[in-house]
Amino acid sequence: MLHDTSVLMDEKRVFEPNEEVKKRAHVKDWEAEIEKGKDLEKYWGEKAEQFEWFKKWDKVLDDSNKPFYKWFTGGKINLAYNAVDRWIETEKRNQIAILYVNERGHERKLTYYELYLEVNKLANALKNLGVKKGDTVSMYLPMCPELLIAMLACNKIGAVHSVVYSGLSVGAVVDRMNDAKVKVLFTADGTFRRGKIIDLKKISDEAVKMCPTIETIVVVKNTGNPIEISEISGREIYYDRLIEGEPSECEAEKMDAEDPLFMLYTSGSTGKPKGVLHTTAGYMVGVATTLKYIFDIHPDDLWWCTADIGWITGHSYIIYGPLLLGTTTVVYEGAPDYPDPGIWWKVVEKYGVTKFYTAPTAIRHLMRFGNKYTNLYNLNSLKILGTVGESINPEAWIWYYKNVGKDNCPIVDTWWQTETGMHLISPLPVSPLKPGSATKAFPGIDAQVVDEDGKEVPLGKGGYLVIKTPWPSMFRTLYQDKERFLEVYWKDFPGCIYKSGDMARQDEDGYFWLQGRSDDVLKISGHRIGTAEVESAFVSHLAVVEAAVIGKDDPIKGEVIKAFLILKEGKKLDSQLIDELKRHVRHELGPVAVVGEIVQVQTLPKTRSGKIMRRVLRAREKGEDVGDTSTLEE
Ligand code: WTA
Repeated sequence: MLHDTSVLMDEKRVFEPNEEVKKRAHVKDWEAEIEKGKDLEKYWGEKAEQFEWFKKWDKVLDDSNKPFYKWFTGGKINLAYNAVDRWIETEKRNQIAILYVNERGHERKLTYYELYLEVNKLANALKNLGVKKGDTVSMYLPMCPELLIAMLACNKIGAVHSVVYSGLSVGAVVDRMNDAKVKVLFTADGTFRRGKIIDLKKISDEAVKMCPTIETIVVVKNTGNPIEISEISGREIYYDRLIEGEPSECEAEKMDAEDPLFMLYTSGSTGKPKGVLHTTAGYMVGVATTLKYIFDIHPDDLWWCTADIGWITGHSYIIYGPLLLGTTTVVYEGAPDYPDPGIWWKVVEKYGVTKFYTAPTAIRHLMRFGNKYTNLYNLNSLKILGTVGESINPEAWIWYYKNVGKDNCPIVDTWWQTETGMHLISPLPVSPLKPGSATKAFPGIDAQVVDEDGKEVPLGKGGYLVIKTPWPSMFRTLYQDKERFLEVYWKDFPGCIYKSGDMARQDEDGYFWLQGRSDDVLKISGHRIGTAEVESAFVSHLAVVEAAVIGKDDPIKGEVIKAFLILKEGKKLDSQLIDELKRHVRHELGPVAVVGEIVQVQTLPKTRSGKIMRRVLRAREKGEDVGDTSTLEE
């Protein structure tokens, strides 16, 4: 089980890379590369040379105002130019950039040249809508090519995108749109999900009513689902109509290295979701370098990351990393088990996927079917496998290694966060692997495990995972909330070190074993959900007075929600109310918020200052000692 972290670290098996992997690898000597990374400015400065700059940077790292680090200051660059335009003068012009496939087996292929034309048309159309450099555009879209085109079109003209995961629902959408003061919203007539069509337009209609800043809604025809659209009012327009007649050339905006690139909301322990802000050049350098070295990307690769673009994994490693390296990226719209649990392996076989990146929750789900489906297809094209989102239990690791990788593919277990922008702890393909460990920090990254006072703990002992030096694709702030940025990430330990919010240990070889969050953030199927968001969704139901939620272990999803509710006088928690509450939370937050159990309570454990002590609920749930309760109210 995932949360029984005692099984981690007891795992002693070591897996070495095969000769072919070693021969091809960009980085052949892991330790030597880590050594090189110690000279931060030299290391990242060299990596930045891979791009075309309009003007070269003056300084690689400006740390004069910690923790407001700046990278490549003085440089001028454009992401879309480097991810798309740059390639059309090369042999990659007619190579496929985006290979879109959905659960119905429909495919769409866009070459780099075709992508170039599409991005330019939309960039021009956005300008016509009055979108200027620095304005915010939001996408509430399924995994369809238009989502990638829209993100790139924003980059091209210097607009900042804020993508909202299409699995989130009304309440979550409203919070994100309003915080970001979104001007233009992209949505779609629907998304395919297990044979059904989910009407995103309907959800967005409901949300938009509560979002006063939105001026235009662009609707992508993705499924052919009949929807209502009021083009006449002038506020809603179909995507096709919007780009009709637009010129297919558009000059790239010369962005400052530190100009905002995008924001992405993520859950914290308290309050509303945080708008994590990433800037341009450093982000590009970080994601392209990590993808190239960790997944050893070469020109003949076919890359598939199964995440959703609505999360950071999709931003960095479905769209930006792969396109900045000029590789082909697979964009899959659908679930891993529909029409049957062999669908992913069918896609791998059909297109010859070489590098495959997914989440432990998906592996645990698929391993229930044994080797039936993995044997049905030829998976020999695969060379490197990856995981992300939570620790992978050794049992799932071994299943993945044997049945998908056929004992032949290294598994890179990549630890990182929305805030970090890029992988920070991960093996390289040449690294000796231990199932369940993310191994060591990437070159240029100084990760450590410390105690409450910020002092390094001895090997083998658990503590807080911190990052001691800056890295190029680190977030720069929380959107319009500098105070919270400083408070949450930089204040807990002396000296300017980054607090990740995760607990970890290092073994005798210095390998990191991640042990879950130290705060009140849940990981449901690898998706990050804040307890505060879920609690406020419960409380917005008329029957609920107060709510406290904790994570409850789940063999497939890692965690699901367990809610403790104080109900209105006279209300009883019967099965009808349970169903209604589950539906209500789903309507507010979306299907990511999986409620496993609801119990009715008369009181909740609170501190004297009125804060709910979820720690006490968690300990009780696990039958552990409740620990120090001296601050408990009663
Ligand atoms: C967890 C996802 C263990 C961790 C990229 C982190 C992991 C949070 C791993 C960030 C891993 C991510 N091993 N835990 N390989 N990767 N995590 O922001 O708790 O959605 O803090 O970014 O996921 O989640 P986020």
